[in-house]
Amino acid sequence: MRFSPRFLDEIRARLPVSQVVGRKVALKKKGREYAGLSPFKVEKTPSFFVNDAKGFYHCFASGEHGDIFKFLMLTEGLSFPEAVERLAGEAGLEMPKPEARDEAREDERDRILRLLEASAAFFEANLASAAGSEARGYLGRRGLKRDTVAAFRLGYGPNSRTALKNHLAAQGFSVADMVRSGMLIGGEDIPEPYDRFRHRVMFPIQDPRGRIIAFGGRALDPNAPAKYLNSPETPVFHKGHVLFNAHRARPRAHETGRVIAVEGYMDAVALSEAGFGESVAPLGTALTEDQVKLLWRMADEPILCFDGDSAGRKAAYRAVDTVLPHLEPGKSVCFAFLPDGLDPDDLIRQQGPEAMAAALGRTRPLVDVLFEREWARDDWSTPERRASLEKGLRELVQRIPDPSIRAHYQRALQDKLSAAWGIEPRGPWRGGDRRGSPGGRAPSQARQPARTPGRPAGGPPGRRGDYPSPAYNPSDSLRKSALVAGELAAVPYREALLIRTLVNHPWLALDHAEEVAMMPLAAPAMARLRNEILSALSLDNALDRDGLYNHLSQSGAARAIELVERSNTHRCDRFAEPDADRAEVENGWRHALALHDRQVGLRRSLDAAERAWHEDGSDEAYARICELQAELARMSLPEALDATAGDI
Ligand code: UTP
Ligand code: MN
Repeated sequence: MRFSPRFLDEIRARLPVSQVVGRKVALKKKGREYAGLSPFKVEKTPSFFVNDAKGFYHCFASGEHGDIFKFLMLTEGLSFPEAVERLAGEAGLEMPKPEARDEAREDERDRILRLLEASAAFFEANLASAAGSEARGYLGRRGLKRDTVAAFRLGYGPNSRTALKNHLAAQGFSVADMVRSGMLIGGEDIPEPYDRFRHRVMFPIQDPRGRIIAFGGRALDPNAPAKYLNSPETPVFHKGHVLFNAHRARPRAHETGRVIAVEGYMDAVALSEAGFGESVAPLGTALTEDQVKLLWRMADEPILCFDGDSAGRKAAYRAVDTVLPHLEPGKSVCFAFLPDGLDPDDLIRQQGPEAMAAALGRTRPLVDVLFEREWARDDWSTPERRASLEKGLRELVQRIPDPSIRAHYQRALQDKLSAAWGIEPRGPWRGGDRRGSPGGRAPSQARQPARTPGRPAGGPPGRRGDYPSPAYNPSDSLRKSALVAGELAAVPYREALLIRTLVNHPWLALDHAEEVAMMPLAAPAMARLRNEILSALSLDNALDRDGLYNHLSQSGAARAIELVERSNTHRCDRFAEPDADRAEVENGWRHALALHDRQVGLRRSLDAAERAWHEDGSDEAYARICELQAELARMSLPEALDATAGDI
């Protein structure tokens, strides 16, 4: 059974998350949130947060996130309807008798879809009839072939306030449904609802299954108040979630590996006719986030096509902002700007499909357009202005959620700045900076060879000094295994160090069993190894180093130990080695653990701060991000220095 969002919201409004969660988890108020120990993971410092205002909980230890219903489902094993029933009772609400209402709603959607289909057929028939001669002439002058008109199911909405209304009434549709579907204009102050689309060429808008969910209508009268008119939002149409021509473009996009987003319906139609069937258009608005996600289902790097004039640039610049917060590894967009302020339809008609193909072959990556936009804002001739440009770029990069993409953007933009200013690339936020810290700088930077100014930036991959040096030095045979290479990259240095100390000094794990068990370890291989060590020692607490090794090798953890063994020990980390004396081991390990805890805490705070910034975009949240990043950078500095020294 389906519950209405209203009913669920009513329950949420009556039951604060802290009240429901508070029965399972001891919560302490912390500012606007509550904090407690995670119910999903064993931990000793609270990383479980509840926010009543926003109606959710978030567990940083396990990544679990949800509302009161999900909480009951997870902690009590209830099904969703059971959780709803329980919480409705608690909130003093009666369970709805929903069947009738729900069916009515399903029915309404079906009726509207049928009504829209009937409307499309009516418009098509009209286009073919005597009444449609002007529209046929118009489409002919615009160069559309009959096949195209048929494939897109283009039609004509006659110049009458009642033609469609009468036609649909004769088919048994109610006036209320005609208004709900957007085909009639009606309302409280309109006694006689009337046809919305009059004297227009009609473009049906279809959902991914090809069902008609709305229309766009192009005026035939050049003096009409709106050149294009679209259906309003209806129960079956939400314009920000739909792309015109998506259902035809999708299979083509899978064949060609690309998808082209243009601004107008006519452009998508003309492109399809010219052999670029993988073309879609938003519905009279700027591209929305949801539409970008739809594009990514068709291809990894959709081409966003804009007029080369200033309006087109402006639209492209806006798209940059829409896309940035949603970038994922491998997913981006690129831009094609068309010559002479032509739109794709004009270009194809005037210069042929080859000109279009050429424009599509000259796409520019997102990072270029982003830089160009910021660069074009002002004159950057003084140090203060340059600093402000850098600050602006940094803020933009912070909107990228993925740390790895963020780091690459920082690098690419810094290179562009250096090239633009004709100076050696040595910006304030290059390298040494795993989390996109505005303050980090790789210590080895100074040794980097100078780069010729003005040369295309970005040198060969793998050159020293551009990225933090790896903290590991695996043997050649180990390096060859891609799997192990992946694992190595995934094991943070300090986690390997902590585990290595335990493997070399089993007594330490016995003396500090609880702390060892609670140690937050992000790398699954390290967490498994820690558990193996503890279970081996619980079976035989007299195990020495060799005994523990034997046990671990037999338990299948050999490869994980090898990972740990291969890690470079920094000069200051001698305590992890087998020959270190007991006091040295204990001190060193405690110190490393404290640093580790602090770093984990900072990372969590940073994640929370970034999330807060994405939500409210406040200066306060941004300042917090910078502060935390600087702190993290300070913490990892000795590590970075050592890693570099170890590599020489
Ligand atoms: P354009 O004005 O660029 O139209 O609007 P176009 O596609 O080149 O149209 P033609 O070639 O003159 O026929 C692009 C898109 O913006 C929306 C429509 O979705 C159109 O396809 N639009 C435009 C409106 O919604 N209303 C308008 O009045 C104009
Ligand atoms: Mn046009």
